[in-house]
Amino acid sequence: MRKRAILITGVVGEIGQALIEALAGQNDRQLVTLDLKPLPAGGHPKVIHVVGDIMDDVLLSRLITEYEIGTIYHLAALLSTRSEFTPELAHRVNVDGTLGLLRLAAEQSQWQGQSVRFIFPSSIAAYGLPSLATKARDNRVAEWEWNNPTTMYGCNKLYCELLGSYYSHNYKQLAAEQPVMLDFRAVRFPGLISAFTVPSGGTSDYGPEMLHAAAQGKAYECFVRPDTRIPFMAMPDAVTALLELAAAPAAKLTRSVYNVTSFSLSAAEIRDLVLRAFPEAEITYSPHSKRQAIVDSWPADLNDSAARRDWGWAPAYDAERAFGEYLVPNIRRRYGA
Ligand code: SER
Repeated sequence: MRKRAILITGVVGEIGQALIEALAGQNDRQLVTLDLKPLPAGGHPKVIHVVGDIMDDVLLSRLITEYEIGTIYHLAALLSTRSEFTPELAHRVNVDGTLGLLRLAAEQSQWQGQSVRFIFPSSIAAYGLPSLATKARDNRVAEWEWNNPTTMYGCNKLYCELLGSYYSHNYKQLAAEQPVMLDFRAVRFPGLISAFTVPSGGTSDYGPEMLHAAAQGKAYECFVRPDTRIPFMAMPDAVTALLELAAAPAAKLTRSVYNVTSFSLSAAEIRDLVLRAFPEAEITYSPHSKRQAIVDSWPADLNDSAARRDWGWAPAYDAERAFGEYLVPNIRRRYGA
């Protein structure tokens, strides 16, 4: 008999590393992880890790002959700045890669006779506000507002949300017999900040980079203006959001895609919080016009009232607690600062 398993793609990324720890401590279900890279530190005792490509159909087929996959956390993606250098590759990984996994989940749902749960981290990059005046006016956007992304990554995330929703509700809609659909659920994350990992290739990276540089005694040039404001979230809350959304009863959910957020800070406010912990830090501004334009197109805050109402979303960390209790103490330990 095939073993029931949870599949996590892109596990070597920031969210994956945090999610593994939480899932490994939470249940006995086999965790199968997939990434182009091996797991750091030689692996994890509770995880079967496969080094491979989400685009490799043979590999995916082999996985489903060995495991009955009940839940997929599909984290693999190229982030927004990285994607602008290789937009077609980004499309292949972010869209074709997601489509392949959705198809796998759809087939598995039919085969198993029950919905495979497909958990997808989407992003504030799915939004695109046309001007700073609009950003100031519509400063707390709801899921259906300003879905006009300016980046390849944002376009990819927005389209994959639609694909997920299609596979969840309308897949094979003209067939004589409706198949068992997969159960797609997505969160739109703000910028994420982890104490244990540093992001690579994102455009919200100035937040975490500022803090990690300060803790290492390195000077940092912030690539956006001091007044630039977007929402952020501490990594433990991001993991909580994924786990709580995955566990929510289907009957409670009124949407496929939910905003989630914790606190909204300007770059200057992040700098102040970093300086409070590391007063010697040297943080200057050297805005990069193109990356600035991307962050300017993202909302200043997210309206996450649907997530709060439907599945009880509530972040544990506001800015004070995130820096004071999670980020600064753990980062100090990490770098011996
Ligand atoms: N952190 C992501 C990025 O900057 C946004 O989801 O690309």
